[in-house]
Amino acid sequence: MRIRSAEFVGASATAEGLLGDGRPEIAFAGRSNVGKSSLLNRLLGAKLARTSSTPGRTQTINWFRIDGKLWFVDLPGYGYAKVSRQAREDWARTVASYFARPHEARLVVQLVDAKVGATALDVEAAEYFTALGVARVVVATKADKLKRGEQVRRIEEIRRALGLAPETAPLTVSAKTGEGISELWKRIAEFLAAG
Ligand code: GTP
Ligand code: MG
Repeated sequence: MRIRSAEFVGASATAEGLLGDGRPEIAFAGRSNVGKSSLLNRLLGAKLARTSSTPGRTQTINWFRIDGKLWFVDLPGYGYAKVSRQAREDWARTVASYFARPHEARLVVQLVDAKVGATALDVEAAEYFTALGVARVVVATKADKLKRGEQVRRIEEIRRALGLAPETAPLTVSAKTGEGISELWKRIAEFLAAG
């Protein structure tokens, strides 16, 4: 898919502040520091989302309008421990309110760190998305940190841990090298075409 324009439109911290206009939404979800913002930037070929080596950078839901046709939604990372209980509750409420709003054309890109593997929180999130019945593609990020053989093993581990069928095995991606980016765009385009 060829992107002509991508712009950051706004950030929302509360259910009331949610943006969106009924156009398809591609939402990026995963642990804090898994590489959500980096992947989004790589897909767009632009540094629109703020990235950081400090976990918990993205605390709000950030909305990016793509070609006036769809939205990229950068969700706050789950499993960031070093924040107050109040902040964690705010986070859960924000994310839950995002998914509580019905939307027929919503695809979740769930990110799992290829180097770290699937954590208990990743499994919990996967169960949450499965229960929601939302369309989903799982990607294993930071693939550049692993050798080819390790990648293959890790993908299989993640697939099993998240209870995914063989035909929905995770894609390996790297925001650093660009590996898997065109495959992920292909999945997104297929999702959009099907809707
Ligand atoms: P939060 O906003 O805190 O939830 O984090 P995030 O998931 O948006 O992660 P972010 O994109 O900010 O990246 C976190 C760290 O991982 C940064 O130091 C990135 O440079 C690094 N990183 C992201 N993607 C890759 C990748 O594909 N390869 C490597 N080697 N590092 C990556
Ligand atoms: Mg981020």
